[in-house]
Amino acid sequence: MLLPRSAMAEVHQPPQIRVVMMPKDTNARGHIFGGVILSYLDLAAAEHAREIAPHEYVTKLLREVDFIAPVLVGDTVSYYTETVRLGKTSVTIRVRVEARRGRERQTIKVTEAEVVMVAVDEHGTPTAIVPR
Ligand SMILES: CC(C)(COP(=O)(O)OP(=O)(O)OC[C@H]1O[C@@H](n2cnc3c(N)ncnc32)[C@H](O)[C@@H]1OP(=O)(O)O)[C@@H](O)C(=O)NCCC(=O)NCCS
Repeated sequence: MLLPRSAMAEVHQPPQIRVVMMPKDTNARGHIFGGVILSYLDLAAAEHAREIAPHEYVTKLLREVDFIAPVLVGDTVSYYTETVRLGKTSVTIRVRVEARRGRERQTIKVTEAEVVMVAVDEHGTPTAIVPR
């Protein structure tokens, strides 16, 4: 498949999480559900936040999820995370999603999004993030 330039891979640190897509994750077209990718994206952001400080976090916002290329069964999908902003009770995390495909292990950019995670106490009230 000919891919747009925006879908070409970049060099990264190790991913926060990496998952192989299975048939249970597909829609009627045989592609992976966008919602499956979003749930892992959310999980990767939460893991990133927990590395910053050991709080409980809730997802406040997912910003600008634009799926550039489809994900297929058998693809290995990597979720790379970085801190964009560390606030008092929230952390904004950029998550970049890439798929590796086939014997050639062609790397395809799938999407990139910003996630705002808010640290909460046992009552669900925002609480100050105290970095490790
Ligand atoms: C997350 C939640 C606790 C925040 O409550 P809130 O009353 O908006 O809290 P605050 O106004 O004190 O904001 C908390 C932090 O979120 C940030 N924030 C709030 N709305 C934001 C927005 N639209 N964009 C970016 N950051 C935002 C604030 O800037 C603040 O961060 P800071 O302390 O680092 O500056 C509350 O909205 C909530 O419980 N939402 C549901 C979360 C959830 O269940 N997610 C899973 C959905 S299935």
